[in-house]
Amino acid sequence: MNRTSAAPPPTPGTPHTSTPFTTERARAYEHDLTRTLGVTHAISVSSGTAALHVALLAAGIGPGDEVLVPALTVPMPIAAVHHAGATPVFVDCDADGIDLDLNDAATKLTPRSRALLPVHLWGRVPDPVDLHAFAGEHRLLVIEDACQAIGTRTGGQWAGTHGDIGCFSTKDGKLIWSGEGGFLLTNDATLAGEARALSNHYLAPPADRSPLARIGYNYRLAESLAAHAHSNLIRLTELLARRRAQAALLTRLLHDVDQLEPLPAPAGWNGYSALFRIHLDEPRAFCALLAAHGVPNSVGTFHLTAADRRPALVSRPAPACHRAARFIDRTLALVLHDALPDEHLHTLATTIAKEARAWTP
Ligand SMILES: Cc1ncc(COP(=O)(O)O)c(C=O)c1O
Repeated sequence: MNRTSAAPPPTPGTPHTSTPFTTERARAYEHDLTRTLGVTHAISVSSGTAALHVALLAAGIGPGDEVLVPALTVPMPIAAVHHAGATPVFVDCDADGIDLDLNDAATKLTPRSRALLPVHLWGRVPDPVDLHAFAGEHRLLVIEDACQAIGTRTGGQWAGTHGDIGCFSTKDGKLIWSGEGGFLLTNDATLAGEARALSNHYLAPPADRSPLARIGYNYRLAESLAAHAHSNLIRLTELLARRRAQAALLTRLLHDVDQLEPLPAPAGWNGYSALFRIHLDEPRAFCALLAAHGVPNSVGTFHLTAADRRPALVSRPAPACHRAARFIDRTLALVLHDALPDEHLHTLATTIAKEARAWTP
């Protein structure tokens, strides 16, 4: 794909390291992340899953601890809870499929509950007030999975900056992309120091700790990827406008397809995916058919299923989160990338409309 960058790519084979522990380009990228997204600390890492893993470890979450997680999610944040040795406790979603159902969350609290891990699926972010009041009341940390929500704004702030730590992915297809990559944002110096140390084998610990005092990981972001992500961060306004325009175009092109009802676009939304409620029998099979016809979507292409229905992710039996399962099964979430030209979106819309009208399960 022909992708343009604002900054020149690094020269292969030329090291730009300022210390053995980080690179100048990663530092410059992190500096601009803090300035652009309005936080005091940014730590670049090798993926969104790595960001979630070190966020949990930096917060001291491990075996014996429980983390309240949505059932309405991709599997990676739940995998990160398992990587940390903690137990995910699944919570259902609200009727709009944007927020956690806090009444359900309340019934699932135990003395071991340590954190809430909201996942902003498809870039949709709830009003943070209720979630943070709940977390405050129950002394829970909030670790936001904002991997799909770069650029969404709610309550006057960017997604991923409302909680104690925000975790982001820059895998291709995210708003800021670099092939692979991720970052964490926080205003807490202690969490930032731990996360940075853990991302690099705990070789450069916070001032009051010894090197290698904890087991760390190689979650460093390669210098060339930091430069690439940085060049896209500089284009954030343009990338956001493009993604929103793509989602809006698909919504317009499909407006007369009765079987597909656009989901309302919440204020400040980044337009991550074009989203439709499917009014057809066997909607999952319909999504699979679209994927087979070259229309990438969450259910058909990535097998999105309510996370509490995946045995590999479930630590102990619990009542199913029915609303999350219904929401996922009935949602067509079209996968977008800024490099997709409008002509391609027209082709996708034609295929979707034809298949929706002809659908017989
Ligand atoms: C919501 C969400 N969380 C976590 C991840 C994991 O990010 P990565 O693939 O960079 O590890 C992704 C990316 O696919 C995601 O969409």
